[in-house]
Order: sequence, then C-alpha cells, then structure tokens
Amino acid sequence: MAEVMNETKTTPETAGDDIIVVKDLKKYFPTATNFFGKALGYVKAVDGVSFTIKRGTTMGLVGESGCGKSTTGRTLLRLQDKTSGEVLFNGVDIFSLSKEELRKMRPRIQIVFQDPFSSLSPRLPIGEIIGEAVREHGIVPPEEYDDYISRIMKACGLQEYHKDRYPHEFSGGQRQRICIARALALNPEFIVCDEPVSALDVSIQAQIINLLRELQQEFGLTYLFISHDLSVVEHISDTVGVMYLGNMVEYAETDELFANPLHPYTKALFSAIPIPDPDAQMNRIILEGSIPSPANPPSGCKFHTRCSECMEMCKHCQPEYREINPGHFAACHLYNTPEMNAKFEAEAAKVAEDKKKAVSEGKQVEAVEKAK
Ligand SMILES: Nc1ncnc2c1ncn2[C@@H]1O[C@H](COP(=O)(O)OP(=O)(O)O)[C@@H](O)[C@H]1O
Ligand code: SF4
Ligand SMILES: [Mg+2]
Repeated sequence: MAEVMNETKTTPETAGDDIIVVKDLKKYFPTATNFFGKALGYVKAVDGVSFTIKRGTTMGLVGESGCGKSTTGRTLLRLQDKTSGEVLFNGVDIFSLSKEELRKMRPRIQIVFQDPFSSLSPRLPIGEIIGEAVREHGIVPPEEYDDYISRIMKACGLQEYHKDRYPHEFSGGQRQRICIARALALNPEFIVCDEPVSALDVSIQAQIINLLRELQQEFGLTYLFISHDLSVVEHISDTVGVMYLGNMVEYAETDELFANPLHPYTKALFSAIPIPDPDAQMNRIILEGSIPSPANPPSGCKFHTRCSECMEMCKHCQPEYREINPGHFAACHLYNTPEMNAKFEAEAAKVAEDKKKAVSEGKQVEAVEKAK
C-alpha cells in the first residue's frame, strides 16, 4: 500500500517543510440581513488566525465549544468560503483553485468528524463506504481495488469480513475506525480530525489516538487535531494552538505549552483537567461564566470578562499576538514590553477619558431635555 500511497504525494523537497500555512484567516457568518440581503451583523467565528503545520506532524487546536475550532478546520479545507486571508497547501493557495482543480485536490485533504454514526450512510455496507470515493477518484486501478480496500481496513484494525456489514452493526470505536479508513483510502497528505474521540468512552479514546499515531508514522500523514480537551491533545500533538472567541491566544510546542503555559485562558483550561493524584496540590483557576457570543465579543482582550488577571488596558486594547519566548506565541498584556505598556496605558486612558466625556455630554443633553 505504501507504494500506491506515495505515488501522488508531493515530496518534501518540492514543497518545503510547511504543508499548511494559514495567514490571517477570517470567517464571518452574517447574523441577520436586511431587505436587500445586506448583512446587519456578523458572528466572527474565525477572526484573523495564522499558523503553520510542518509535514508529518500534528498540531492540536483546543478551546471551549464555540470558539471557532471547527470553522477554522472546515474553512482551511475550503469546505466553506472564507471571509478573508490565505490558506496554502503545499505552497498552493486553496482558494485560488478552480472547481475542477479543487476536486482533484480533495483526496489529499481529508476530514474525520466527531460523530462517526451520522457521517456514515446507514444503507451502505462498510466496504462500499470506504471504497466509494476511491473508485470515483481512481486512486487504484480497478483490478487492485478489492485488495486495496482490504489492506486499508486492516491498517485501521478492521477485518476483511466486515466489508459486507452495515454501520449499525459496529460499536462507536469501530465506526470511528471506519471513518478513518474512508479518509485514509483516498491517500491523503493532510487530515483535519475534528473532535474524533470526543464521543467515545475514555478507554476507546486511547485506542483511536494510538491508531492515528500509527497511521501517521506509516504513511507520513499530517494532522490538525481539534479537541475541546487539552489532556486529549497532549499525546498526539507536536504543537498546540489555543483558540478563544475566534482568535489564537497561545501557540507553542506541546512540551513547552504544558510546562510553561503563558495565557490566563490556557492556564484556566489546564486547571479544568482532573488530576489523578488526589493529594496533588494545585492552584485551580476556575473559568467562570460561559463563553461570550462571538456576535458581540467583549472589547479589548476578548477574554477580559473572565480573566482573573484583568487590568484596565485589557478592557480597551486588544493585546498583540507575538512571540514571547522562542517559538512560543501569546496574546496577553501581561507579557508587554515596557514600551508596549506605555503605549497601551495611554490608549486605555484616552478611551476611558472619551467614555467619561460621552457620558457627561449625555447627562447634559438629558438635563437640557428635562428642563424643557
Ligand atoms: N454555518 C454557520 N452559520 C452561523 N454561525 C455559525 C456557523 N458555523 C459556526 N457558527 C458559529 O461560529 C462560532 C464558532 O463555531 P465552531 O467553529 O463550531 O466552534 P467550535 O468548533 O470551537 O465549537 C459559534 O458561535 C457558532 O455558532
Ligand atoms: S490581556 Fe488582560 S484580560 Fe486578556 S488574558 Fe491577558 S491579563 Fe487577562
Ligand atoms: Mg467544533
């Protein structure tokens, strides 16, 4: 299978180290439109996200539900249009491709979803589910088809006799293996795994994560692994990005992020992870309240309404996303340089002054109205 699978792959020499480059990607959904179809407001699901993924590695993407992880994954695969920004796959801008060029590229960029049951057609046997797109895209010659599907199934821990069975005859873990086999059969280079183990029992989660790791090693796959749970991404990710309300708030290599989290949101996510040792001492930071609506996000740092370290400037000025330590990025005013602090303090003071003025002008108008 390895020979077949390598045939259509771009070699690292021709495409460089970064298989995925995302630059300032934005995806806004209109909340309501007027009579003429013009948007009146937007949910800024992804609001200027940038990152790269090295060939053969896994980037974990974490954050609470609703912070824009799935939208990032779906938009970078061009399963939906972008609002702005750029996504390069092997150096090629995915959004510059014609429909036909995109159709040809599809097998190389795949997605595995959280809910394996609803993404499998209940009326097709497993062999057909895994093989349907293999035939459509001519991944292998017709005479090799049967053998190829058997080998893919075996690589994913499924038996050949499963081919004639239907999705409802399988457990949740096996159904996720079927979804992975369906993606793998298309000979992909890059797979977005969107919460692939979140619906599974904890004991089964480890099996699926191990399978993904084995397949990565065997076939040189690259993953974007999305999860709301930091502890799940630890064992599979080389790098981790943390998202909050459409923004990347922290990014680092996994070891560095786990040893030295910088952003208060990341620290709060860590303290939500259960600790196996009941005697272990930990200063738990509790994330209060739910995530605000991305249709009406807080001003300044979007996390300021829930942050225990919030300062005055956080309420008015958006922090810069920048490299704090080598390879370790974060967007938080706690890590400003003295020059940045001076700039943001002045900005915050001006915003506060303007607000005060607006309030007092409003009061004066009110007083004049009352006097009339
Ligand atoms: N098709 C859509 N239309 C309108 N809003 C959407 C759509 N898809 C996602 N959203 C909104 O975008 C935000 C981010 O959603 P999502 O990317 O699914 O977050 P996550 O995967 O982190 O839970 C949410 O507020 C969600 O309601
Ligand atoms: S910028 Fe301020 S509010 Fe935002 S995470 Fe940092 S300290 Fe908290
Ligand atoms: Mg999601």
